[in-house]
Amino acid sequence: MSDDLFSSISFRDSTARNRVMVSPMCQYSCTGDGLATDWHRVHLGSRATGGAGIVMTEATAVEPRGRISPNDLGIWSEEHADALEPVARFIREQGSVPAIQLAHAGRKASKSRPWEGNTPLQSDEGGWETAAPSADTWPYESEPPEIREMTKDDIGTVVDAFATAAQHSLDAGFEIAEVHAAHGYLLHEFLSPAANHREDEYGGSFENRTRIVREVTETVREIWPDDKPVFIRISATDWLPNRDSWTIEESVRLANQLSDVVDLIDVSAGGLHPDQQIPSTGPNYQVPYAERIREQTEIPVGAVGGITEPTQADALIRNERADLAVVGREHLRDPYFTLHAAEELGAEDRIEWPQQYR
Ligand code: FNR
Repeated sequence: MSDDLFSSISFRDSTARNRVMVSPMCQYSCTGDGLATDWHRVHLGSRATGGAGIVMTEATAVEPRGRISPNDLGIWSEEHADALEPVARFIREQGSVPAIQLAHAGRKASKSRPWEGNTPLQSDEGGWETAAPSADTWPYESEPPEIREMTKDDIGTVVDAFATAAQHSLDAGFEIAEVHAAHGYLLHEFLSPAANHREDEYGGSFENRTRIVREVTETVREIWPDDKPVFIRISATDWLPNRDSWTIEESVRLANQLSDVVDLIDVSAGGLHPDQQIPSTGPNYQVPYAERIREQTEIPVGAVGGITEPTQADALIRNERADLAVVGREHLRDPYFTLHAAEELGAEDRIEWPQQYR
């Protein structure tokens, strides 16, 4: 019998009860210094009671300057791990696998929250100097924050920050660590020739542009125990057809290089440049990239983007287009997406509502 949405799946010794993963989604709800609050406990906790197989935190910064906004989660100290520990514990108690997305925002850091305009924050507004492979700012920004072209020492510091963050994540009780290398943030900026103009061993050729991603994933893999999985999220393409940019062909090549290091490629797209031309934002709009990486590598993939219907998510698994259905915005509309999917798909006998709700 082929797998479906309610088939369990194991990555190393970690088993998810079904194929639904809550996509990482920033909540901009830390009160200060990147510590998790009641909002994170309730928000992530309710997606776990909702039945998802894996619940992933929002992009969680490995160092203070890697936050998008001052209100993002961080995981650069023991205090951050202590604040996230109840989140990971509750997710696990509800039968979901707790996962953390480790991130650095690069040139897209130092912004106000979306509901405060998503505008660059200057130093007198609580902003900070951002760091990126090259000193070009996020294009077309009116008043970009100061940007620092990273030295090789800075790169080493960031790689070390991912290692330290992985250790704190483990201490907090997370089972999966996902490296965020998508959406125009720091690691994606290194990958793409549209943002990386370096002339040292971190820029230029494919090997050079991908070097920091290999270093980060390998260092996280070294910290993360052998029985626990490491994922990576990539943007499969920059959607910049008319200029030198990151492409699906390079994504396949990178995925093959990472096949011994990561256990799943979480396949998103875009976010590097405002000139991107997104062919569609309809149902399954990024699935073809996930499917292609799945076909041309040996690594499981997660598909994300425009997955809103249970039958649609189920078909992705049944038709072997993806190994996980990664659901973002639909989880904001319905924390109980998975339990409702079970009802719609006639799979009520394969997952139970929390006892308190039965
Ligand atoms: C996101 N997305 C996102 N992606 C990511 O890798 N890390 C993150 O922290 C965030 N933050 C975030 C916040 C909010 C409010 C939204 C809506 C989205 C992108 C998200 O994970 C997902 O890839 C996209 O939303 C597309 O999937 P859906 O929403 O069509 O299922």
